[in-house]
Amino acid sequence: MRSFSVAFLAFCLSAEAADPKSVEWGKYLVDEVAKCGDCHTPRDEKGQLDKTKWLKGAVLDFAPLQPVPGWHKTSPDLTPTSSLWKKWGEGAMVKYLTTGLTPKGKPADPPMPAYTLTQKDAEAIVDYLKSLK
Ligand code: HEC
Repeated sequence: MRSFSVAFLAFCLSAEAADPKSVEWGKYLVDEVAKCGDCHTPRDEKGQLDKTKWLKGAVLDFAPLQPVPGWHKTSPDLTPTSSLWKKWGEGAMVKYLTTGLTPKGKPADPPMPAYTLTQKDAEAIVDYLKSLK
């Protein structure tokens, strides 16, 4: 019995698939709290977020009234097949969301907020992003 549960625990820890609760929590944080899609999802001709290109990267639909140094007019694709994911990988993505610092040790350019989330929340966001097509 005991050896079974140890083996089962080892299996759970090594399993690739993310905990569905974590994915659900990550979706809530991304879509309802941080609203990442407002900047990272392109809009259709009616100005609505294009649900077929969720978090695929976009040209921002707003700009500052005063010049802001380093302002970025575009946001990158956050889905797991993107070049950003290939470059950063999961570890750097979690670290970025907990520290606000990219692998170069700097914050991203504005208007990307520098989030300093808890480890659990950052991992949930990454689990959700990984679940996207
Ligand atoms: C207010 C608009 C806005 C919101 C909200 C936003 N982003 Fe961004 N994000 C950007 C822009 C613009 C960039 C490009 C900045 C750059 O390349 O330095 C960016 C870049 C990034 C990057 C790459 C950073 C880099 O240096 O290459 C990641 C990862 C990211 N965003 C994740 C997220 C996640 C996850 C959320 C929600 C939790 C989010 N963003 C919410 C605008 C936004």
